[in-house]
Amino acid sequence: MRKKIVAGNWKMNTLPAEGVELAKGVVAMRGEVCDCVNFIVCPPFTHLAQVAEALKGSNVELGAQNCAAEAKGAYTGEVAASMIAALGCKYVILGHSERRQYYGETSETLNKKMEQVYANGLTPIYCVGENLDEREAGNHFAVCKQQIEEVVFNLTEEQFKNLVIAYEPVWAIGTGKTATAEQAQEIHAYIREVLASKFGAAAAECPILYGGSCKPSNAAEIFAKEDVDGGLIGGAALKAEDFIGIGKGFMA
Ligand code: 13P
Repeated sequence: MRKKIVAGNWKMNTLPAEGVELAKGVVAMRGEVCDCVNFIVCPPFTHLAQVAEALKGSNVELGAQNCAAEAKGAYTGEVAASMIAALGCKYVILGHSERRQYYGETSETLNKKMEQVYANGLTPIYCVGENLDEREAGNHFAVCKQQIEEVVFNLTEEQFKNLVIAYEPVWAIGTGKTATAEQAQEIHAYIREVLASKFGAAAAECPILYGGSCKPSNAAEIFAKEDVDGGLIGGAALKAEDFIGIGKGFMA
């Protein structure tokens, strides 16, 4: 049985007090969804500690949105994986399309970040996905394959057992345009095949999340697909009710 996961990527939203309120709201409503669904919130670095405090005693987990490629040292403005782990984070989102696109993250950088994440006992949520031109040219399979081969294929079998993948088509992020459940299933199944070509049967255990304009009204249909194990949620994660409502998609 693969883990079911609903993870909230808050991106660069919320001030600390707002983040704490949001986290408290998620904790308060969490009981409305079965324990079989794992909820994770990923606030900005600045309020990880305060949100960790707000989550204490609950079964809502904490993640960060990024980490440095180096362990420590003279890297002004960077945040090390060890620092994130020390604050109680269990997860780190890596390779989000916004980081690839706006901050020039390459597979080379992401390989180093992966190393840091595992060295500190964290679980990466590794994002892949094509942009609109790539989808329209029919290159989405090749793009996802390459993003996986260049990074995930460098993991050991042990590390692979502790990995979450998020498929996020760039054209669906923040656009209100969701991939259809069929499109999601098609590429999730393909991603699992690519993973299996390297890691064999262990690929059947790897959670693959869908991300891109996921909301309470479309979650159930998407999550019903065999190879979709949950969602990585942007905009709708900023309202506790919507975020939990997406988790309810598993119970529909
Ligand atoms: P939206 O849910 O706002 O489309 O964002 C998805 C996303 O990028 C999550 O990482």
